[in-house]
Amino acid sequence: MNKPKTALVTGANSGIGLEIARALHAGGAHVIMAGRNAEALRAAANSIGADRLETRILDLASLRQIADFAATIDQKIDILINNAGVMTPPQSLTEDGYELQFGVNFLGHYALTGHLYPQLEGARVVTMSSGAYKQAGGIDYNNLRAEISYNAYREYAISKYADMLFMMQLHRLASPYLLSAGAHPGVTATALSRHMDAETYNAALQQFGELMPASQGALPALYAATAPGVKGGDYFGPDGDMELKGYPAPAEITDAVKNEAAGQQLWEFARQATGIIYP
Ligand SMILES: NC(=O)c1ccc[n+]([C@@H]2O[C@H](COP(=O)([O-])OP(=O)(O)OC[C@H]3O[C@@H](n4cnc5c(N)ncnc54)[C@H](OP(=O)(O)O)[C@@H]3O)[C@@H](O)[C@H]2O)c1
Repeated sequence: MNKPKTALVTGANSGIGLEIARALHAGGAHVIMAGRNAEALRAAANSIGADRLETRILDLASLRQIADFAATIDQKIDILINNAGVMTPPQSLTEDGYELQFGVNFLGHYALTGHLYPQLEGARVVTMSSGAYKQAGGIDYNNLRAEISYNAYREYAISKYADMLFMMQLHRLASPYLLSAGAHPGVTATALSRHMDAETYNAALQQFGELMPASQGALPALYAATAPGVKGGDYFGPDGDMELKGYPAPAEITDAVKNEAAGQQLWEFARQATGIIYP
């Protein structure tokens, strides 16, 4: 019998990450569920099963804790899902002084992937972005600590654009050692909207109609992680109108993401910011 694949999912206690973990486990994988809240993680794991599951504490808002977490992972990882995310929180910074969304959604996952890099040979690394990345209008390197201004939606879009640049640059630098692909879930009902005010949330519901369940929002990432024929640099989202709902299909990659100089600049920044140099 083949050894089960080992998958590591960040933000696995909730929403899409939990459904990704559930589906990978159902497919026979040994799943490491990472999250920052032990109780929530345990409850999430219990909802899946008992065998082939581990829970580990990971706070992506701290480079120190990411290093501590990675030091506890000694096995080879076949599937890494960089899924955890925070959206439009009140202005706040990571332990290392970066704007929280940029720090957690992108920089934390850059650091995590780097720490685990020696264990990722032959792996698929799937990074979760959002259709919002298209609204970023570039990365302002003078404002990554929100030292000039803070606009919650703009910083979310920038963090998700950074995820796209990361996914693509990892593909350029690390292929064929690993396969780096991306996904976005369309509009999915999860706790991600916890920081939205009621008015904005209701306006979004009016615009989008009924949101998809998390089990459906998980499908593009699951496709990127497991489907045959996926290539490095591929990016998947729902196949419906405006990529909002539906089932996995190739999603739009803008010229701003294909821009190699932008990818190199972000990679260089992340190397210096974290001190983690790879590949
Ligand atoms: N839902 C959508 O419509 C939608 C659309 C586009 C993109 N996305 C992306 O999909 C991904 C999953 O989000 P979701 O919708 O499933 O939302 P969710 O239910 O809020 O899940 C987000 C996960 O990220 C974790 N997380 C947040 N900050 C963290 C930190 N500092 N360290 C470690 N983990 C942290 C959360 O942990 P806690 O439970 O402890 O907070 C939670 O497990 C995110 O990357 C999000 O940007 C979602």
